[in-house]
Amino acid sequence: MSTNKTFTMIKPDAVLDGNSGSIIKMIEAAGFRVVALKKTKLTPERAGEFYAVHKERPFYNDLCAYMSSGPIVPMILEKENAVADFRTLIGATNPANADEGTIRKLFAKSIEANAIHGSDSDENAQIEGNFFFAHTEQF
Ligand code: PPS
Repeated sequence: MSTNKTFTMIKPDAVLDGNSGSIIKMIEAAGFRVVALKKTKLTPERAGEFYAVHKERPFYNDLCAYMSSGPIVPMILEKENAVADFRTLIGATNPANADEGTIRKLFAKSIEANAIHGSDSDENAQIEGNFFFAHTEQF
């Protein structure tokens, strides 16, 4: 994956609330192209693997339980400056601190059920995209 890509997941709270379509519409309206997309569900073990970098943090077990509690919509997105621009679009991790008009301000419920994930670096975007999608699923 090149550096103009990022990885995202619409999290269980937003999927269950029926907000996936509205969120994807905001993402495309902001100029991102959808390279790969699916609806799937993580097992607790797969969630643990995905978030292994946070293993020592106090919320790790809660985060893995939450992220495997319902379906998610992972996507690979493409745009110039994708990682940074996407994190601006989604807003702060804690929706209480998210700017008006951001995806988390509009759809997140709490720091755990915060609607959406966005990769924090080009390197992680590539690792995370390949965690969910084979190369033959990325267009
Ligand atoms: S970030 O975006 O990586 O800078 O955010 P960070 O604060 O490091 O959090 C990493 C992921 O953990 C989630 N998180 C939490 N989950 C449950 N409970 C608490 N208290 C909590 N704090 C942070 C946060 O939503 C991040 O998830 P992702 O999927 O990476 O956005």
